[in-house]
Amino acid sequence: MKITKFFSTVVLLALLGTVSCSCPSSQSSDSRADDIEARIDDVMSKMTLHEKIGVIHAQSKFSSAGVPRLGIPELWCTDGPHGIRPEVLWDDWNQAGWTNDSCVAFPALTCLAATWNQELGLLYGKSIGEEARYRNKAVLLGPGVNICRTPLNGRSFEYLGEDPYLSGRMAVGYVKGVQSNGVAVCVKHYALNNNEVDRYTTNAIADERTLREIYLPAFKAAVVEGGAWSIMGGYNLFRGQHACHNDYLMNKILKGEWGFDGAVISDWGGTQSTEEAIFNSLDLEYGTWTDGLKMGLTNAYDNYYMARPYEKLIEEGKVGTKELDDKVRRVLRLIFRTTGDKNRPFGSLCSDEHYAAAQKIGEEGIVLLKNEGLLPLDLEKTKKIAVVGENAIKMMTVGGGSSSLKVQHEISPLDGLKKRLAGKAEVVYARGYVGDASGEYNGVTTGQDLSDNRPASVILAEAVKVAAESDVVIFIGGLNKADHMDAEGSDRLEYSLPYGQNEVIEALLAANKNLIVVNISGNAVAMPWADKVPTIVQDWYLGSEAGTSLASVLTGDVNPSGHLPMTWYASLEQNGAHALGAYPGVKRNDGSDITDLEYKEGVFVGYRYVEKNNLKPLFPFGHGLSYTTFEVDNAKIKTSGSGDSFKATVTVDVTNTGKVEGAEVVQLYVSDLECSVERPVKELKGFAKVNLKAGEKQTLSFALDSEALKFYDEKEGWKAEAGKFDVLLGVSSADIRQTVSFDYK
Ligand code: GLC
Repeated sequence: MKITKFFSTVVLLALLGTVSCSCPSSQSSDSRADDIEARIDDVMSKMTLHEKIGVIHAQSKFSSAGVPRLGIPELWCTDGPHGIRPEVLWDDWNQAGWTNDSCVAFPALTCLAATWNQELGLLYGKSIGEEARYRNKAVLLGPGVNICRTPLNGRSFEYLGEDPYLSGRMAVGYVKGVQSNGVAVCVKHYALNNNEVDRYTTNAIADERTLREIYLPAFKAAVVEGGAWSIMGGYNLFRGQHACHNDYLMNKILKGEWGFDGAVISDWGGTQSTEEAIFNSLDLEYGTWTDGLKMGLTNAYDNYYMARPYEKLIEEGKVGTKELDDKVRRVLRLIFRTTGDKNRPFGSLCSDEHYAAAQKIGEEGIVLLKNEGLLPLDLEKTKKIAVVGENAIKMMTVGGGSSSLKVQHEISPLDGLKKRLAGKAEVVYARGYVGDASGEYNGVTTGQDLSDNRPASVILAEAVKVAAESDVVIFIGGLNKADHMDAEGSDRLEYSLPYGQNEVIEALLAANKNLIVVNISGNAVAMPWADKVPTIVQDWYLGSEAGTSLASVLTGDVNPSGHLPMTWYASLEQNGAHALGAYPGVKRNDGSDITDLEYKEGVFVGYRYVEKNNLKPLFPFGHGLSYTTFEVDNAKIKTSGSGDSFKATVTVDVTNTGKVEGAEVVQLYVSDLECSVERPVKELKGFAKVNLKAGEKQTLSFALDSEALKFYDEKEGWKAEAGKFDVLLGVSSADIRQTVSFDYK
């Protein structure tokens, strides 16, 4: 093992807490915290009112002021959750045209969630944090942890799926990994920012139980367990008040109940009121479009809600400085934890380790949905492969909104396959259809010319001919980062695949039954041909090593082990928000531009809704196949205690009963069989990914406590009721292999 690899592994394990290691900053975390607080006290005692106001709002598109007179550095933020955004101009979204700010694009976060591997969350965070550190950024604006309430949400690809427990587990590792570099995460978009349509004006209305059980847990895990140093308020309103300065979300829950000691940063343009920002815990205002009124003026920073307007209120004695001092303290704490930490590591950019991490996360996140024998490719028999589809060649790291990147390289699926199959099989490409030929975002261009003005019938006929003449056909399609696809600022307009892809798939199948469909998207899409197509692969936005990861899995170099982090509905009617007419929202007719969106499905999101209504989705939450088979048996449970002292240890054996090494994700669900309120049939409360050689068996052990049994009661808070519970262990929410029961008192 190369020394650098050894070091990085040791550091990773240290971050997981299983190996103690002398981290770069030799100070213990407690003494460092005391040191920081002492430094804050000192600086604050010397700051003028104007200097205090200066540090709580932006000075440029992505930076806020320090205090030069006192040697306090300014604070630099950067997008995004999948890679470090190229430098932009001082007060402009367009990229500045630097030549040394290309990055590694890591897979989109839905792919990370699909790995169900918490260690990869840590690896992901450490790697992207090193890139942010190297670019001298203090705050990385990610991860996004909003729950995928509807598959039409344009930003699903930036999030971690539909389940609060899985999202939280995967977020914790990412947070710790990033912050191990002395770079703060900024967990977003707090909270209930679950759609892009009307994103600035949607007023999300959810009851307390739904809020607590579904939409808060991932944020709470990132803050309380992950130790997030900053959090971003969302654009939407929650129960009638803007999320960026929402009394209930920010004062009562985040800083009250959770004891958050970091800084609340507005989304860019999410601040709407000086008074609410002052008293409802907004600490740092970015991106506001205002000249004191509404419209954006360049360099209007002094007109920000928390700039001159706030300073004037204090000067006129209309507000005190207690709130200001708390904001300044939190911003200084953010600076001292990051740029002001003289011991933080130095980071790295575009390193071999980062490309290896991107490839591994991609390989482990790819989900084999269906396989009637075509995979892994049999390169003894398969001598000619047709690759069809725009997504085999289209760059996906440019576009999609603020997560758009300027990459050092991006290996397309076609290039990855050609490289891996060179000398083994002939690869012939055909477009099949024309979808989105664009390739530019904020001044970053892909350099691709995807224009093809031939008639669609000619393009299709060419693909059908190539397919008919090949041993195997791999169709690579799906969505992309254009508006109304997987993109910030707009939601999808349909659940179906766009650009006539269903017809292309049917035509290819008619020409050659050996068809593999590879779908690239950030969330579920309709697959009306799923019962006819023998092999289907869900391939997320995998970033710089997209083609390498996909080729590894299709050829069997890597055995797929991804599992779905969201339900793959047969149709939108199987999704609670759509079935109950609770998406999109309803525009008020009171002259305001508010759109009320009532979360009528309550806690019944994703598989929780599907199972409540005995529906059969195309592929269930947690589903994922392998090139080998696994047996899960011999489950046992030992319980002790009662009430909040309840403890349970669940053990189960997992055996690789196939012929090749592989990894399985054993999922643990809890079912409350006797409850005074209607609860989901079952809820995910544990999972473990285990890698086994052919024939190997391991025993997994899960520890549960009373928290895993609780639901949220509007009057009593979290509570578990006495009665019978089942613990269900399986390899998807619909493939339960073992059940053990117990009585909870
Ligand atoms: C955007 C996004 C947010 C991003 C920020 C800065 O509008 O909502 O996720 O980090 O503004 O680009």
